[in-house]
Amino acid sequence: MRVFTNVKDIGDLKQALAEAQEIKKDRYKYESLGKHKTCLLIFFNNSLRTRLSTQKAARNLGMDVIVLDVNQGAWKLETERGVIMDGDKSEHLLEAIPVMANYCDVIGVRSFARFENREDDYTEKILTQFIKYSGKPVFSMEAATGHPLQAFADLITIEEYKKTQRPKVVLTWAPHPKALPQAVPNSFADWMNEADVDFVITHPEGYELDPQFVRGAKVEYDQKKAFEGADFIYAKNWACPGVTRPEDYGKVLCKDMSWTVDTEHMSWTNNAFFLHCLPVRRNMIVSDDVIEAPTSLVIPEAANREISATVVLKRILESL
Ligand code: CP
Repeated sequence: MRVFTNVKDIGDLKQALAEAQEIKKDRYKYESLGKHKTCLLIFFNNSLRTRLSTQKAARNLGMDVIVLDVNQGAWKLETERGVIMDGDKSEHLLEAIPVMANYCDVIGVRSFARFENREDDYTEKILTQFIKYSGKPVFSMEAATGHPLQAFADLITIEEYKKTQRPKVVLTWAPHPKALPQAVPNSFADWMNEADVDFVITHPEGYELDPQFVRGAKVEYDQKKAFEGADFIYAKNWACPGVTRPEDYGKVLCKDMSWTVDTEHMSWTNNAFFLHCLPVRRNMIVSDDVIEAPTSLVIPEAANREISATVVLKRILESL
């Protein structure tokens, strides 16, 4: 595997889940695979879980790790071609990418949606330049439209806690004060659509996710109906994806607090487990009671980020 940006890149999910369990039993089983190999993790945006879990994963495999926070200490990067660079940006991404690639064997990139232009975000303008110009395997650590390491960890968690062969999994929009990208819900939908689950998405009107991610999933605008019989509730905010009204792309259209997942919401479910990728704003997305309940899986879900990253890096190392 030389590129990891979506569910198709991982191939058969049963095989990937089996590898995840193998790694979980002995996370150092492949520690010689990454000897004398360097993993460069490039962050254009903040991170806690991805930063730590991916470093840990690389070290599980015996790799050296370099972490670069582009906005802290590196030259400010221009990303557009054709720009007269007479402003505050000293280096162009088109030189920076091959330079950085000299120093590593594998590259992880975090680069969020900028909400300036839907097409730039949805064509993954930054990530695709790394794939095109680095000459090295590249994996997403959350890009403009996807967060596949998170979705893989989510799937591992659902597999570990499910009580029926085909659980009902509900992705619900929830309110947030700021505009957030669609990367997490997009990838969650991408992976759930390939998994052995009954998948439902619920959100207010205007928040329709891009059809390439929704695919055949059921969309239910009534949150209560969507929650009925659910075995897993996955809460997340996202800003308007601009599917029905492109001019609304990246806007906060709704702050309706009746969508906050609280104990009443959870009472509509089949005693569902609660999932969220974190970080989460309590009492906006989810109430204190729900996130602190024994049915909340947010901590084991975050722990599984190490496992998903180890499987992905192992696959990449095997392809070198
Ligand atoms: N869930 C997740 O990706 O967390 P971070 O943004 O802290 O890495």
